[in-house]
Amino acid sequence: MILFIILTFAAAGLLYLYLIWNFSYWSKRRVPSPKAKVLLGDLPNGILRKENMAYDFERLYNKYKGKTPFVGIIQLRDPRLLILEPELIKDVLVGKFHYFKNNEFADMIDTKLDPLFAKNPFFLKDDEWKEKRAEITPAFTTNRMKALYPLIQDVSARMVKYITIESKKSDPFDARELSAKYTTDVVSNCIFGVDAESFTKENAKIREMGKKLFSSSPWIFIKMILIESFKFLKRFIKIQFTEIEIQQFFVDLMKQALKYRDENNIQREDFLDYIIQLRNKKNISELEMASHTISFFSDGFETSSIAISHALYELGKSKRVQDKLREEIKNNANKNGQISFEKLQEMSYLDQVFHEALRMHPPLVTSSRLCSEDVDLEYDGKKVTVEKGMSVFIPYLSVHYDPENFLEPKNFHPERFDDGAMKDYLDRCVLMPFGGGPRICLGMRFALLQSKAALAAIVGNFEVTVNSKTQDNPLVIDPKEFLNIKTGGLWLDFKPLSEE
Ligand code: HEM
Repeated sequence: MILFIILTFAAAGLLYLYLIWNFSYWSKRRVPSPKAKVLLGDLPNGILRKENMAYDFERLYNKYKGKTPFVGIIQLRDPRLLILEPELIKDVLVGKFHYFKNNEFADMIDTKLDPLFAKNPFFLKDDEWKEKRAEITPAFTTNRMKALYPLIQDVSARMVKYITIESKKSDPFDARELSAKYTTDVVSNCIFGVDAESFTKENAKIREMGKKLFSSSPWIFIKMILIESFKFLKRFIKIQFTEIEIQQFFVDLMKQALKYRDENNIQREDFLDYIIQLRNKKNISELEMASHTISFFSDGFETSSIAISHALYELGKSKRVQDKLREEIKNNANKNGQISFEKLQEMSYLDQVFHEALRMHPPLVTSSRLCSEDVDLEYDGKKVTVEKGMSVFIPYLSVHYDPENFLEPKNFHPERFDDGAMKDYLDRCVLMPFGGGPRICLGMRFALLQSKAALAAIVGNFEVTVNSKTQDNPLVIDPKEFLNIKTGGLWLDFKPLSEE
C-alpha cells in the first residue's frame, strides 16, 4: 500500500514536471510573458471553451501592445510567440515567409483518414503546398470569374425570390443560414454544375452535407488537446475530421457530374472544367480530382457565408450606409436591375462596405505559422529567436480593432477606405481578412465576387433591419466555433422595396 502511494505521488510529480517543463522558456530568454496555468497555458478560456479563444488573444494583445512587439506565451505546455506589431506580422507573412511557409494545421491531417482534405493547399507543406497552389491558382483568373458570374447571378435571383416569399411571414431570417443557402447553391453550381436547391427544398441534401462537413464533434477538440499536450499520443490517437459518409457523398457528386459532362459533351467554363483540364494535362487521379472539388466546396461556402451575414448585419444597423450603398447599386444597375460583372468590380462603396464588415468580423480570427528554421525577429531594438518547430500567432481580430491602426475601430465606417486608402491598410498588414503574403487566401477573388453579388442583390431589393432576437449587446463569438460565428445567430428582417 505504501509503495502504491509513493508511486502515485512520484507519477503525479513527474506529470506535473512534464506539464510545467517549458513554463520558464520565455523568462530565460527575457521575452515578456504572462504567468501560464498548468494544463491550460495562457489561453485558458479557449481551452475550457468558456469563451472563444479570440478573447484570450484579445486580452493578451491589449495588455502588452505598445509595451513589447511580441509576447511569449504557452499553449497548453508549448512555447509560442504572439506577434503584436504590424511590421513584424508583415515579416512573418511576407518578408521572412521562407521561414514561416507552413501552417500549423498541416500536421494534424491524417492523409489516410481524411484523403479529401489532404490535398487542400491550406493543409499542405513545403514543396507539395507550392506545387498544389500553383496547380489551382489558374482556376481563379479574371476570365474564369467572369464566366462564372452568370451562374452566380442565377442563384442571386433565386435568393431574391426566396426572401420575397419568406418575408411575408412574420419570422425573422437567420442571416447565416440564408447566406449559407446562397453560397452552397453558388459553389455547387460552379463546381459540380448542379442546383443544390437550398432555397426550394427543406433539408436539401448538399446543404445538409455542407453543414456536417464543418460540424466537428467535441471529441475531435479533446483529441487535439491530448495530442498537443502529450505528443507521443499521436501514434495512438487518430483524428478524422470528416466522416466517411460525407467524404463518399462528395466523391459520388463529383463522379456523377463528370459522367454527365463527359457523356453529354457539355462545355462550361467552371471549376469542374478546370479540374477536367488538369486531369487531361497532368493525369491526376480521381481521388485528387475529388480532393480539389471538395476543397473548393469547403473553402468556398462557409467563410463567405459568415462574411455576407455579418455585412448584412452591419448594414441592418446602419441605415445611412445602407441607403448610400443602395444609391450606388441603382446607379450601376441596368433597367432590369442587373449589374454586369464589370460594373460590380467598379462599385467602390460596395467594396468598402464589404471590407469594413470583414475588418470588424473576419471569418478567421487568428492564424498561426510554423517556423521551419531558426530565425530572428527584430523590432525597435528588441529581438527574439524563433526556433524551428515553434508556432507564431497572428491575432487578426485584435489588429483590426486596435485604435492605433483604425480610428474608432468599433464603428462601422466604410468611408475610412475612401480615395483608395484600403491599399495602404492592406500593405501595412493591419487589414488582413484574407491573410497576406504568398499564402494569402487563394479563393479571394471568388469570395469577393459571390459575396458582393449577394449584397447587391439583397440591398437592391430589400430594406434590411436587425431583429431584436439578435444577441448583440455585445455580439459574442461562439466559444465552440473555430470560425467567427456569433452566439445566438444574426437575425434580420427584410422589407421588399418594390412594395413601397
Ligand atoms: C470571405 C471569404 C473568405 C475569407 C475571409 C477567407 C480567408 C482566408 C484566410 C485568412 C486565409 C489564410 C489563412 C492563414 O492565415 O493561414 C485563407 C486561405 C485560403 N483560402 Fe480563403 N477565405 C475566404 C474564401 C475562400 C474561398 C471562396 C476559397 C476557395 C473557393 C478559399 C480558399 C482558400 C485556400 C485554398 C486557402 C489556403 C491558401 C494557402 O495556404 O496557400 N477561401 N482564406
